[in-house]
This record gives sequence, structure tokens and C-alpha cells, in this order.
Amino acid sequence: MVRHFLDIHRLEAAELRAILDDAHARKAARKGWTQGRPDADAPGEDRVLAMIFEKNSTRTRFSFDAAIRQLGGSSIIATAADMQLGRGEPVEDTARVLSRMVDAVMIRANDHEDVERFARVSTVPVINGLTDRSHPCQILADLQTIEEHSGPIAGKTIAWIGDGNNVCHSFMHAAPKFGFHLNVACPAEYHPDLRDLAKGANAVTLTSDPREAVKGADVVVTDTWVSMGDQDYEARLAAFESYSVDEALMALADPDAVFLHCLPAHRGEEVTDAVIDGPRSLVWDEAENRIHAQKAVLAWCFAG
Ligand code: CP
Ligand code: NVA
Repeated sequence: MVRHFLDIHRLEAAELRAILDDAHARKAARKGWTQGRPDADAPGEDRVLAMIFEKNSTRTRFSFDAAIRQLGGSSIIATAADMQLGRGEPVEDTARVLSRMVDAVMIRANDHEDVERFARVSTVPVINGLTDRSHPCQILADLQTIEEHSGPIAGKTIAWIGDGNNVCHSFMHAAPKFGFHLNVACPAEYHPDLRDLAKGANAVTLTSDPREAVKGADVVVTDTWVSMGDQDYEARLAAFESYSVDEALMALADPDAVFLHCLPAHRGEEVTDAVIDGPRSLVWDEAENRIHAQKAVLAWCFAG
């Protein structure tokens, strides 16, 4: 069986825990090293990772490229617009061709179903680097960040404030797998999609009240109100106006609560300067951890 990393709800809890443990171990093992030096075990040696981007990216692009190098491998990066994919070549044919040329493929796609279609015919591992529906790699980095700062994630409460978007969905998928509780506060019309949560529904509480969601929370998380591909900019700004994470909202969380944001951030919208640049913000560690978490994902894929 080819090991694809498409969504957190598709993996067993023990497998996910092992990936997160590996991310912690890989980070600890290379403290003080230069970024290009390969890990001692180099599980990506002689492996080529292809990356396809249908949407913009800074963190995902650079972290995956750094990650495969630190695993001893190399990368090929293309935007979909530069590929025949952008002129209508079927996703399945692209998958069949790349399967003959590289050892794994990371895709950032507009339509989640395209990543599923790619994976169905790919004979090499496929990794979801964000779709309209989910962002699983981001959540592994987020959980790594929380654990290194605040200890084991099991039993903690995370408050998601704002849009019920792709990143929110992956947090929802992760809650039952890692044993934390997720309070989601969104305006009713932007509530998340519950379709992949069947067995984990009691790990998630939905509300429209940000204050209720953050009460006693160990972690407060938000994301942009307007994701890539969203068209209704004005309507969103109006709907989310009272969902900004500011110091008053953070004050209702646990006194040791930390703040996360996957970035890019829109200061003055979903988060204030005082919070994102303040002492409880872990956003730069969170961005760095994209490398370590994705190395663990790649190593898991290659070990299949
Ligand atoms: N958080 C994240 O995925 O950032 P990029 O869009 O820059 O990759
Ligand atoms: N929800 C955001 C995440 C960006 C990393 C988006 O999809 O644009």
C-alpha cells in the first residue's frame, strides 16, 4: 500500500502520534545545525519530491523544500499554471507520468477532489499541501508547537475563532485522534463542514460566541477571514467583525494560554498586533515547525 498523507482523519491515531513524535525527535537532533545539513539517518536519500502549486505559498513551499533536503533528497517545484495541467491535461495522466519520475508528490490544489483523484492513480505517495477543504500538514506543525511549549496535547482545549475553513477542518479531524477538545466559534453562515467528523463529533463544540469558545482554553487559534479562492470579501469582513482575537479575548482564556496562526496574518482583522506580536504568540515557532513536521510526514511516506 502506498502511504498517502491526504487528511488527518484517514490515519490511525497511533500512526499520527508516531509521526508527531518523530517530528519532535528530528527537531531535537539537529539543534544548532545549518539548515542544509542532512539528518543522520537521511531517510530521503536518493529520493525526489515533486511539488505542484495551484495557489500561492511561502511556508509550504520553502518548508517542504528545506525538509526534503534535510532528509537527504531533492525537489522539483512547479506551479500548475506552468504545467500542462494548467491547459487541461487530466489530473490522472499527470499522476501516472510523475509516478515514473519522482518518489513523492506534494500538491496544493484549489479543489480537494483533484488531490484525491491524483492519489487514486499515483504509485508514489501523495501529500496534501492545502486544499479548499483541509490543511493537514499545518495542524501537525501546530500540535508540535503546542507540545513543545505546553506539554502533551491530550486533554487540552483549543479554541478556534473565525472562519470554519480548511485549517479549522484539519483541527477538527485531529481532535479525536490526539485526544484534545476543540471549541469552534464561527458566525452561523461560516460554520465548518462536519462531514469527516463522524466518529469524533464529541471532541468538537460549535458555537457562534468567541467568548464562550476561549473560556479556559489552553490555545487560541485563528486564520484569515478570506481564504485563497474566497470571493465574498466584503460580506466576510462584515460577518467576522466581532471575531478578532485581541487582548480582551485572550484574557478570557487560561492565564498560560498561547496563540497560534498558520500565517499569512492580516493584522487588524482576525488578530491584533498586540496579540500576534505579544508574549503569548508562538507563530514563528509554528512556522519553523512546518519543516520538522513535514520531515516526519515524508519519512513516514518513504517507509511505506
Ligand atoms: N501556512 C501556510 O500554509 O502558509 P503558505 O500559504 O505560505 O504556504
Ligand atoms: N485558510 C487559508 C490558509 C492559508 C495557509 C487559505 O486557504 O488561504
